[in-house]
Amino acid sequence: MHYYIITGSSRGLGQALTEHALRQADTTVIGVSRHATIRHERYHHQPLDLSDMLAVQNNLHKVFPPLPAAASITLINNAGVLGDIGYLGEQPNEHFEFVLDINLIAPAMLMNTFLSTYQGLNIPRTILNITSGAAQRPVDGWAAYSASKAALDALSRTAQKEQDLRGSGVCIRSLAPGVVNTAMQEQIRNVPEQKFSEAARFNELHEAGQLSEPAAVAAKIIGWLRQAAPLPAADPVLRLSELPD
Ligand SMILES: NC(=O)c1ccc[n+]([C@@H]2O[C@H](COP(=O)([O-])OP(=O)(O)OC[C@H]3O[C@@H](n4cnc5c(N)ncnc54)[C@H](OP(=O)(O)O)[C@@H]3O)[C@@H](O)[C@H]2O)c1
Repeated sequence: MHYYIITGSSRGLGQALTEHALRQADTTVIGVSRHATIRHERYHHQPLDLSDMLAVQNNLHKVFPPLPAAASITLINNAGVLGDIGYLGEQPNEHFEFVLDINLIAPAMLMNTFLSTYQGLNIPRTILNITSGAAQRPVDGWAAYSASKAALDALSRTAQKEQDLRGSGVCIRSLAPGVVNTAMQEQIRNVPEQKFSEAARFNELHEAGQLSEPAAVAAKIIGWLRQAAPLPAADPVLRLSELPD
């Protein structure tokens, strides 16, 4: 059985990734989110609030059960939030802790626990962190989000280097999915210009039908992940357009 552990499985891209993975009869998914929206005989839900670090710490063992007979194990750190969009100096301080906990600290703890729990298994093991193009450029109103995704990319690069030095065979990637038609995009379109100067551009993209559908993005990602490891890449940080069709 191939195992996927997918955070943010309740909606958006995470739900599409989960549904696409479950199409293969040899696949089981452990989904992590606050809400349970998927019912399937090979889907196991672990309710968890990734902004609650104590709950994360206390429940990590449930997310990563012993899987001695697994054919492969993949962790997809997909859950992510923008938090309230707005400029530094105009935000409550708690905003930064909230966004960084969900987008960076929780994924780091999940990566750490995945690597320690499944070390020594002689099967393909992959970690895919869902990042954003906003990690590479300043987007006003998104400072905490951009910073969290840039740090997630650094985490992916460093962890891959460490695993290469250990010769573990574990593959770690950060992947920016592009502009995907989810609740996160709905939030972006509804922010006033003085808090986010690119609001009009995102509305135009939506009106022009230029957002990717989650199912299509998920199909491309899962198809790529199911190819034989190691997944080739000079840099562990990738964009969706760099994946083979
Ligand atoms: N949509 C885009 O255009 C786009 C572009 C670039 C990157 N991304 C990235 O793609 C990933 C998926 O985004 P999306 O667009 O699918 O977002 P979305 O539709 O808003 O879904 C977010 C998912 O994260 C989960 N989540 C949010 N807060 C959580 C918490 N406190 N604890 C546990 N889970 C939580 C949600 O589940 P619950 O509410 O049930 O907890 C939900 O399943 C994110 O990392 C995002 O940064 C998206």
